[in-house]
Amino acid sequence: SRIVVLISGGGTNLQAIIDASKQDNYGGDIVAVVSNKADVYGLTRAQDAEIPTSVLSHKDFDSREEYDSALITEINNYQPDLIVLAGFMRILTAKFVQKFQGRLINIHPSLLPKYQGLHTHQRAIDAGDTEHGVSVHFVTEELDGGPVILQAKVPVFPEDTADELALRVHQQEHRIYPMVVNWCCTKRVTMVKESALFDGVIL
Ligand code: GRF
Repeated sequence: SRIVVLISGGGTNLQAIIDASKQDNYGGDIVAVVSNKADVYGLTRAQDAEIPTSVLSHKDFDSREEYDSALITEINNYQPDLIVLAGFMRILTAKFVQKFQGRLINIHPSLLPKYQGLHTHQRAIDAGDTEHGVSVHFVTEELDGGPVILQAKVPVFPEDTADELALRVHQQEHRIYPMVVNWCCTKRVTMVKESALFDGVIL
């Protein structure tokens, strides 16, 4: 399968998927990395792996609609089977989501449906949660609301700072995201009627 990864930052999840995709039996190849920001380290990671990159800055567009239209065109140039959001810090329009529905996945650093949106680690600490984690989900029009494919949990310790907790969650992100990308590439999991369908089992 052909994978396009969208980033806005350092790209540690991108790196985990690059590393996994080098294994012999992996179901997909990253054919392009697209960033909405120039000069982010994720682009260097892609270049080091000899993956084509493009930068499409939202600042060059007057509206979200126009940006997303250009992003659709850019992505379609690469004819991907799967679009992977890996720290892509943009809210996507309904048109974009509909265009790629079922082929679009995201990683969100909380145990969804808890803590949609930003500052998830601090919010988990402030709420006194004893466990926290990460979710990989299909993207639908509801922000951080699409069907969850896989989650990983981590403990929250009493003295944790948001940074310490984020680091613990990140380690799990790097473990589960390449796994789910592979499942999507091999059609082990698909989205059917806004649910995740696992080889005949609906979650
Ligand atoms: C991760 O925490 C991910 O869960 C969130 O954005 C961050 C991206 O980190 N959606 P990285 O760029 O992959 O290092």
